[in-house]
Amino acid sequence: MLSELSVAAAEGVELLERPEEPAVESKVGGGLSGRELTKVQELVYELKIGEVMTREVVTIGPEQTIAELDELLRVNGIAGVPVLADGNLVGIVSVQDLIRALKAGALQEPVARWMTANVITLRQDESVIEAVRAFARYRVGRLPVVDDEGRVVGIVTGGDITRGLLRALELGYHAEEVSRYRASHIFEDIESDETSLRLRYFIAPRDFARGGEASRKIKRALQRLGGHPSLVRRVVIVAYEAEMNIVIHSDRGGELLVEVNPERVHVVATDDGPGIEDVQLAMTPGFSTAPDWIKEMGFGAGMGLPNIQRWADEFKIESKPGWGTRLDIVVKAGRQRALGRGPAERNVR
Ligand SMILES: Nc1ncnc2c1ncn2[C@@H]1O[C@H](COP(=O)(O)OP(=O)(O)O)[C@@H](O)[C@H]1O
Ligand SMILES: [Mg+2]
Repeated sequence: MLSELSVAAAEGVELLERPEEPAVESKVGGGLSGRELTKVQELVYELKIGEVMTREVVTIGPEQTIAELDELLRVNGIAGVPVLADGNLVGIVSVQDLIRALKAGALQEPVARWMTANVITLRQDESVIEAVRAFARYRVGRLPVVDDEGRVVGIVTGGDITRGLLRALELGYHAEEVSRYRASHIFEDIESDETSLRLRYFIAPRDFARGGEASRKIKRALQRLGGHPSLVRRVVIVAYEAEMNIVIHSDRGGELLVEVNPERVHVVATDDGPGIEDVQLAMTPGFSTAPDWIKEMGFGAGMGLPNIQRWADEFKIESKPGWGTRLDIVVKAGRQRALGRGPAERNVR
């Protein structure tokens, strides 16, 4: 199984280098879909040599004999070893070298005469892609990993890379499953008479580069909590409009406070000035006091407050010039739109 996988990994070398070439993709065949390959490619760049290498390195001395090498490879079930003299890397010797030596009847000759002295090495903090490239370029089966002093700290083969990738893929999937599970069951797992989660976001005035960041984070939080897409969408719209009003219209910025429980999401947006002169007028679709330079950026269509009104289940606005503005917005999960798998799903009336 693993040898098949390392063949796939070796062929994958080309695939990883030229992912757009479909002819190569068919070589890997069967199990790997386009999306998984993308994940593998990502991991090959992400993983470090130190994370996949074998740390217990079997080595041989240059004065040891070919007979000893034969024994060493057989006992350990490996196809090559680094050659170390006083702890220093002086060469590498493989099963191919062994075969050549045996054919020449050199059983009692020292390994030093048959090894390759010019060793290509890797560093622990290099990306795995470097090893993949080195294997392809030099047509070698294993590469020693050395530290700054040139000491051998590990060895990497195609099999190590394959195992490392499989482990990383597996860990990745588990991590995702675990976090999904934890977050979406949080309201079930924690017992109280009323459980809620409070998320607070500070909004800076006129910071258009970061405008919308809080609502994006709210979106992600609700998705992780298992919020139904339609609930998430509605909350994101109202949170975004409230956030952008603070960015656009407030003097000193403000904050969004989001309280989440299985039945509803309550968004409170506050700022302390300048406040709204005529709230009725501000609620009119198309009404905006945004200056031209902000309108040129695409904001200030006067649809923010009307949008909140439209998508919220409850909406209250309090504002006083010179005092500030407070919006109270409630979006209900509803029977079909339960958040998490908590009481909302069980309270079927
Ligand atoms: N937090 C706020 N502080 C001061 N004025 C606000 C605030 N939010 C809204 N307003 C006023 O209400 C008007 C309408 O708001 P909105 O419907 O979101 O439209 P827009 O933001 O596109 O102008 C704004 O133009 C502004 O005059
Ligand atoms: Mg607005």
